Order: sequence, then C-alpha cells, then structure tokens
Amino acid sequence: MENQVATAWAPASLSNLGPGFDALGAAIDGLGDQVSVERTSGRGMEVTFDTSGVWSGPTDAERNTAAVAAAHVADSLQYDGGLRITIKKGLAAGTGLGSSAASAVAGAVATEHLLGGKLSLDEMTAAVVAGESATSGHGHADNVLPSLLGGFVLMRSSHPVDHLRIEGWNDLSLMVGLPEAEVLTREARAALPGVIPLTQAVDHAARLALMMAALHTRDVNALGRWMMSDDVVIPARQHLWPYLESVVQAALEAGASGCTISGSGPAIVACFRNRGHAQQESIRSAMQARLNDAGLSALVSVHHIANHGALILDGDRAISWRSGVSVPAPTH
Ligand code: HSE
Repeated sequence: MENQVATAWAPASLSNLGPGFDALGAAIDGLGDQVSVERTSGRGMEVTFDTSGVWSGPTDAERNTAAVAAAHVADSLQYDGGLRITIKKGLAAGTGLGSSAASAVAGAVATEHLLGGKLSLDEMTAAVVAGESATSGHGHADNVLPSLLGGFVLMRSSHPVDHLRIEGWNDLSLMVGLPEAEVLTREARAALPGVIPLTQAVDHAARLALMMAALHTRDVNALGRWMMSDDVVIPARQHLWPYLESVVQAALEAGASGCTISGSGPAIVACFRNRGHAQQESIRSAMQARLNDAGLSALVSVHHIANHGALILDGDRAISWRSGVSVPAPTH
C-alpha cells in the first residue's frame, strides 16, 4: 500500500564562516525543522504550522518555502494529486541559521519519501533552492546543501551541483549565540560591494582555501583563525552587528579558537575543541554576558556538526536521506 503520510527533519546550518561567504555552510545538531506531508483526495496544497513550533510563516503555498520545494519534488515525480503540509519550526526565520533552508529541505525530503521516488542531488537541490527563493527572493544554496547532506559543504555551483562535503569531527564544538535582534538578509546584501579589486579577490580565495585545509586536517586553531579572516564581507556589514567585536574578544579570552557571524546574522558562532564542561561553560557565559551588555537577550547553546543531514522520520527511527543509515532521532 502506498504511504499516506511521510515526515522529515532537516538541521539548521551555519553559513559563510568568514571567507566562505555564499559558498560554505555546515549543518548543526539540536536545531531544525520538521515537515509532514500527507496525500489528500483533492488537488493543490494546504499548508499549516504546528503550533508547538517556535515560529510560523506564510500558509500561502506559493510563498511557503517547504510547500514550494515539495511542489517541485511532486512535479518531478509526476504526482498531480493533493498534498497537506504541516511544518513544525524548531528555529525562527531571520536568524542566520538557515531556517528557510531547513523547512525547504524537510519539505522536499518528506515529499520524495511519501511519493516513493528517488531524485538526483541536482533535482533535489533545484527543488530546495526554489523553496528558499520563495522567501529570500534569491536562490543561494549555501545553507541548503549542508541541511540536506550534513557536515561542512563548500558549494561552487547549485545548478548543476558542484560541491565538496567534509564530515565534521566529533570533538569540534560550536557555541552559537542567538541574540534577539533582526537582520534582514536583503539589507545585509545591499551593504556589500558589487565589485572588488582582483588583488582582494585573490586574497579572499587564498583565505578560503586555507580554511578548507583546516577543515580537512581537523585543525581547530587554524579553522578559528581563518573563520575570523574576511576582509570583504564582514567589514562591509559590521554596522549590522554592534556586538560582534566584543563577543569575539570574550569568546577568544574564554578559550575559543575563533568566533564570527553566521550567515548575515544575527547569530554568532565560536569554535573550540571540546575540553570538558568547565571550558564550554566559560565560553558560553562569556558570550552571553557580552550579548547582554549590548542590551540584547540571547540564547547561547553548544552544538556539534550534524553529519547525517536531513532525516526521514519513521516512528522511533530516523534514516539519513544521504546515506540511508539509521541514526538516533533528533530531539528537537
Ligand atoms: N550567504 C548569505 C549572506 C546567507 O551572507 O548573505 C544569508 O543568511
């Protein structure tokens, strides 16, 4: 008998990490969105938000990121029946943590599973990027591929997909500070230079290459150094994050290897090699104190890289979309 309902979960993701602007992202555990997709006897799509989620958004199927991604998958699988989409948001939009990407990925993965198809990475990425564009107005895939595939993902092109995926390592910890502030990606992009000199472009590329080498060699000090090394994007946007310098300084003094903005913010992330609870707590409280000093209430929590990416949820089981391996079900 064909499935009547399918559920998927997709992780939140960090992006940019300094010189990785628009190219690098990383899926993180403990935060993500869940989407259930159900066949209906009618046509078209109904969209609802689960009220136990932390946020809700548009229920108009053409403006809803999960629904647009789901519709693309349904089209690719030549399904023309009706679908009901229920979204449980584990993270709010506009945080710099890939909220819309997580919803779009979970919507696409749940729909593909429901309809019993298997799309290529190119087809899934096209569906999810279309979903992201429904809200952001531009389809950049730096959050999309990490959320779908897990780990760190460097993406050179989303159509066709040209990427490099690197597994996160177990003792890499990430302290994520989420201040109660709003940064509109549109405004953050408007602050950027349209053109940069060739010498600066070469320098920027070299910094990103060195950061990728740090990921390959699992060198947290080098990762921290290079994630704070961006001469193009962070300086142009600095006015959007008045707390940045002070939080970075506090995180480094408390033992973090590096600290920078995720995406266009307001989220800020510090990386460190896990050396126990006391060190973790000292980084957490230092970042929390500086965000509070800046007049912002903030949630500061520790995360790790989510290597499994998007998961299909089936009762108590969770199965990685990428690898087909069963993994522990997410707790959020
Ligand atoms: N790479 C995008 C930007 C991500 O920085 O504009 C937005 O969260």
